[in-house]
Amino acid sequence: MKKVFLEGEIKLNVDSADVISKDLDVFYNPKMGMNRSISVLLLRALDVKNYSFCLPMAGTGVRAMRFLKELPEDAIKNIFVNDLNPEMPLTLRENLKLNSLDESKLVVSVKDSRALLCEERGFDYIDIDPYGSPNPLLDSAINRISGEGILAVTATDTGALAGTYPNSCIRKYWAKPLLCPQKHEIGLRILCRKVQLIGLQYNKALIPVLSYHFEHYYRIFFKVNRGKKLCNDLFKFFDTFNYDKTNGNFLKNGEIGPLYSGSINDETLIEKIISISNNDEKKFLQKLFLDAKINLPFFLDIHDVCEKNNIQGVVSCEKVIEELVLKGFVATRVHTSPYGIRTNAPFEEFLKILKN
Ligand SMILES: C[S@@+](CC[C@H](N)C(=O)[O-])C[C@H]1O[C@@H](n2cnc3c(N)ncnc32)[C@H](O)[C@@H]1O
Repeated sequence: MKKVFLEGEIKLNVDSADVISKDLDVFYNPKMGMNRSISVLLLRALDVKNYSFCLPMAGTGVRAMRFLKELPEDAIKNIFVNDLNPEMPLTLRENLKLNSLDESKLVVSVKDSRALLCEERGFDYIDIDPYGSPNPLLDSAINRISGEGILAVTATDTGALAGTYPNSCIRKYWAKPLLCPQKHEIGLRILCRKVQLIGLQYNKALIPVLSYHFEHYYRIFFKVNRGKKLCNDLFKFFDTFNYDKTNGNFLKNGEIGPLYSGSINDETLIEKIISISNNDEKKFLQKLFLDAKINLPFFLDIHDVCEKNNIQGVVSCEKVIEELVLKGFVATRVHTSPYGIRTNAPFEEFLKILKN
């Protein structure tokens, strides 16, 4: 049944359902509103100009409408809006009308997303937003993204990436995950490396500038850079790790990964995004900003470490961070776990604070 939704600055009259599934007709998923809002904010913060956008799996086309309404006019050269679902153009056109939006900058099509990407010459922004894994589209999207463009990737197959189905992760992402308190950080970084590996085939260094886990999905925005040197530099950050099940510590070199251990968030960009955001996503972005302050690929989970080291009593993250900072270390909370602390303190020091 059709319902009216408000998202960002637009109004939508679309089908939705309590349980979203790929078997539905063209549908709208309000849960992905923040995903779309952050795309808009990132593009505004980067002040992009005359971009050719490609939304190869556009669903209702809601993202295209938000770009039209919420980005400055000179940001958009055109937006390719495509979906395999033949109902999409009608839904899109009805909603463009509802919002008094002009279609002149849109190129609407109904075809397989890979066919679209192979036929067209190139785009400055491509948004891969599938059900499940982005894998089927990575090759053609990375081939078609411009040398200075932005590639946005969503993955909802967190069951594989976060270690519930480790063999699926090994097959699809060429890396070993682990079910542990750090599972989403691991999953996000495994996804990051997989996308980067495809980029390397085309001499494109994909540098993550904003990466997060939220509810049922992972999202990474990459800035594309051309050049063999930058590509070779990425290799330095493909690392493996080990999780010590006896005490909850994380160490380099082990069975987890390989994954991207470099910086996955640009602190300055997030700060700028926060400064222009005024909605629900602000609180989440502030969490992400704190997380991005320390460029370390792993964190320790206070509940996990306490349990494994027989430490009794209630320990608060804030108190532990305060103690770490008093001792001269850097420490912050993480966005992927309520009990996680990212710090440069040696494990023994961390343990000492928890014990005290
Ligand atoms: C998660 S939805 C996209 C949501 C949309 N990007 C948004 O922001 O609302 C995934 C979409 O991919 C479409 N799709 C699945 N396989 C496709 C393919 N091979 N080519 C084009 N579209 C495809 C589905 O019809 C569905 O609308």
